[in-house]
Amino acid sequence: MAKILVAGSLNMDLRFSMKRMPLEGETVLGDGLLYNPGGKGANQAAAAAKLGGDVVMLGCVGKDGFGDALAKSLTDCGCDVSALRRVTAPTGTASIYVDERGRNSIVVIAGANAYCDVEYLKECEDALKSCSILMLQLEIPYDAVWYLAKKARALGKTVILNPAPAPDSIPKDVLKCVDWLTPNETELARLSGMPCEEPSQIEEAAAKLQRAGVKNVLVTVGSHGAYLCTAETSELVPTQHVKAVDTTAAGDCFNGAFAVALSEGRTALQAVEFANRAASISVTREGAQSSLPLRSEVL
Ligand code: RIB
Repeated sequence: MAKILVAGSLNMDLRFSMKRMPLEGETVLGDGLLYNPGGKGANQAAAAAKLGGDVVMLGCVGKDGFGDALAKSLTDCGCDVSALRRVTAPTGTASIYVDERGRNSIVVIAGANAYCDVEYLKECEDALKSCSILMLQLEIPYDAVWYLAKKARALGKTVILNPAPAPDSIPKDVLKCVDWLTPNETELARLSGMPCEEPSQIEEAAAKLQRAGVKNVLVTVGSHGAYLCTAETSELVPTQHVKAVDTTAAGDCFNGAFAVALSEGRTALQAVEFANRAASISVTREGAQSSLPLRSEVL
């Protein structure tokens, strides 16, 4: 099986649950607080490992209890964390509000994630050389992500970039290094500068990014599934309907599962179907890494 390298963020999530989100200037009473390992990078790595992937994680945590807990969570999921960097800054944290319909709002404080820089990634070049698939997101410094995407392309690796949180733009020379760009509709709208409310708009926006150099675009559209946009096809791959209790990390679960299926040599369509199934399970559970399914559950 091909090795998957994930470079990205690790956060301790503080998940507050409430009936509805507070309005500006309003205080609401919540009904629960959960501390749960998270961070888009770590969630994607954990998802891939729990689904049977051979996963190495690169990233930075603090020399504190949250850092210990995040490293342990990934180890328990089966990830190789031997190259994680411990820095003097506090471990990244995320404050997550989840309402009774499972919708969320997230604020991330980068902390140690800001130290996941080019210098550290250069030290980890062996990990990049030995992987086949590189999975990236945007909760570490952009120049580190751009560096790794270019380096991976030069080494002939498959590059998956989940553009979350959405940046204003991605440099053109980086877009050309991306095999799979995996935005949701909001991130796609931001990156393409086009409305993405209707299916035809989503396909047009994805095509614009493909013309800009991205090889394939995979747009997650929540309970509807995902649009698979390649040189050969542009189609909605529907997902099963489930009752969502918490959508946190659903996109991360989708990305991790997609990478695993690719690493096993499945077709893009099979990989999206596998990822849809995994993500639909994750939304039926609370939290980020606590919601990720095992391979047996997805199969
Ligand atoms: O995608 C969900 C994740 O976003 C959370 O785990 C939080 O840490 C933020 O990174």
